[in-house]
Amino acid sequence: MTDLLLAGIGQLVTNRGEPLRNAAIAIEGETITYVGNEADAPAVGNGIFIHCEGAAVLPGFVDSHTHLIFAGDRSDEFSRRLAGESYRQIASDGGGILSTVAATRAASEEHLFGLAATRAWRMIRSGTTTIEIKSGYGLDLETELRLLRVARRLGDDLPITVRTTFLGAHSIPPEYRNDRSGYIDLVVERMLPEVAALADYCDVFVEEGVFGIDEARRVFSSAAGFGLGARVHAEQLSRFGGARLAAEIGASSADHLDHATPDDARAMASAGTSAVLVPGASYTLRSTQAPGPMFLDAGCNVALATDCNPGTSYFEAMGAIISLAVVQMGLSVDQAIDAATRGGAVSLGLDDRGVVESGARADLIVLDAPTVAHIPYRPATNLVATVISGGVVIR
Ligand code: NIG
Ligand code: FE
Repeated sequence: MTDLLLAGIGQLVTNRGEPLRNAAIAIEGETITYVGNEADAPAVGNGIFIHCEGAAVLPGFVDSHTHLIFAGDRSDEFSRRLAGESYRQIASDGGGILSTVAATRAASEEHLFGLAATRAWRMIRSGTTTIEIKSGYGLDLETELRLLRVARRLGDDLPITVRTTFLGAHSIPPEYRNDRSGYIDLVVERMLPEVAALADYCDVFVEEGVFGIDEARRVFSSAAGFGLGARVHAEQLSRFGGARLAAEIGASSADHLDHATPDDARAMASAGTSAVLVPGASYTLRSTQAPGPMFLDAGCNVALATDCNPGTSYFEAMGAIISLAVVQMGLSVDQAIDAATRGGAVSLGLDDRGVVESGARADLIVLDAPTVAHIPYRPATNLVATVISGGVVIR
């Protein structure tokens, strides 16, 4: 029996070949049971009927890289950068990641949940139905656990899917300033055994002056022993070797990649490592965009994500990210929509979504526009009219 029928779809992006016109989608429970011509769609019976009046429909956005849970405010740093200071200068001045760490350590679990849930609801209203959430603003055992509990609770209490990532190796905390190896020991020996039950993945910020290749290798190999997959902050501020490391260890993804080379892309493609591109960070830092087309040419799975964080990319809406990917990175509209949906799902190992076909999870967006090109074309307007997650209309 059909629980929900969408008809009158002017353009249906399935990520399985050309878009369909005059299409319909039937849903039973959480699952899509019919995709095709409106005339052949099953009867809706007592289910819910939505007529889309010629609007475009696409899969729900999969935001595969966020730092969603944090306290404090860093708008002052944004202004300082506009006045000419660099991200690294501000960080070495006590700002940057460590200023968010101080505010986050001081915040209660309830307060952090409230802040993050408010951000997550803005994401949902912008069409996101799956979110990856990293820790990394605790940098001590107690606060890292608090962040991952909040992330799990967001998945339990909100009508979306959440995947969690432990990013204990995001920065060296102030109390270990003079003892790098002591901090890596803490991450590997004390944190990983305790956080593993709350995390799906482990991430390391691999960068000149942050964490080196051998330090990262040690963290990832220990994380693998606890069953955590790898996601890697790689080649964001310089070319440093994080992408090659990601390929070498068979990471699920390497992320950012602004300074990656064709060799990096080829190594990632052979290893099955997704390229998760975050154009909001490059935009905010006014730095070069990652070479998106290069990763597609090399045969990588490409995902687009917000990187939502208070320092480099306070973006919540995937529509704006798609616009940056098209206008500044050189992806086509079709490539960018695919990367923001199917590509993100692949990077997270979620093969039940990101496409519209019979048997897929019913995560869908109905736009207030006739084609998906309106998303990048009108970047400052939220064109999302209806959001369906697991067959339920959540907005
Ligand atoms: O993805 N690169 C490292 N981490 C974040 C920035 C974190 C911050 O500045 O608070 C990023 O850009
Ligand atoms: Fe990031």
